[in-house]
Amino acid sequence: MQKIKKAVIPAAGLGTRMLPISRAVPKEMLPIVDRPAISYLVEEAAASGAEDILIITGRGKDAIENYFDYSIEYEKKLTESGKLDKIEEMRRICSLANVYFLRQKETRGLGHAVLTAKNFVGNEPFFILYGDDIILSETPVCAQLADAYEKHGLPVCGVKPVPWELVYKYCSLKAEQRDDKSYLVTDMIEKPKPDEVYTNLSILGRVLMTPEIFDILEVTPPGAGGEIQLTDAMGILARRSGMTAVDFEGTRFDLGAKLGFLKANVVAAINHPEVGEEFREFLREFAKKLN
Ligand code: UTP
Repeated sequence: MQKIKKAVIPAAGLGTRMLPISRAVPKEMLPIVDRPAISYLVEEAAASGAEDILIITGRGKDAIENYFDYSIEYEKKLTESGKLDKIEEMRRICSLANVYFLRQKETRGLGHAVLTAKNFVGNEPFFILYGDDIILSETPVCAQLADAYEKHGLPVCGVKPVPWELVYKYCSLKAEQRDDKSYLVTDMIEKPKPDEVYTNLSILGRVLMTPEIFDILEVTPPGAGGEIQLTDAMGILARRSGMTAVDFEGTRFDLGAKLGFLKANVVAAINHPEVGEEFREFLREFAKKLN
């Protein structure tokens, strides 16, 4: 089976759920303690084998590009104060993979953002990492998807069961269980109405896709919310030849929503090598005052 060497990270969305901050700071650049969300995504893609990573950006998102560039001024200052390990860490971030940027000129939906990556992807399978979904896991989730691709030979989506009463906010998969962790998917629907729900399995932020998706996306009309939905295009693919769903190992945080952002920070902070211990102590004391 072909190794997956390319990844696409759509990060052009307006982030209206994170207003007013998203007006000035891209939600993908919001910090999880001291690293922006996008940094976790590039690390995950690179750790899963991706050598070329395309980040789809838009107007007002230049900060993302700056993050993956060298910081000559900081390096000068850090050299003077002998903090060479900090320089090394910043350079490591810049050399994880070849990171490319392309603008989606109009925010016409996730499907449209993925379609802009057509020439970059060419004729290879590739990972898609939704720019506001961080997953903390033992094994990188994209690598888990690659294993399933190797095994079953079909495009793969990363899924989790979501609370039934919230399925309408996500997508719903028509899926039959194959084994403990994997399902055969034969249809899916974005933001289903109550009578359209298949299962409570929803795609949460990771897909391993094959290039035939582009021909489908080119003719996919706007769907839920008036946007070109990746789910609608993947639904066609699933009905045509099936997809695999993997109930991945890991905890997912939606950085595009206030609660997800806060939870990710707490979890990352208690495990942070520099501040973790003190932060745990603070939380223990603080929790005593909560009712
Ligand atoms: P979301 O629907 O979560 O992002 O898209 P959004 O549109 O920014 O969110 P709200 O509802 O306004 O708060 C999932 C991913 O797809 C990207 C987003 O940046 C996010 O990472 N996306 C979405 C694009 O790249 N382009 C789009 O046109 C829409």
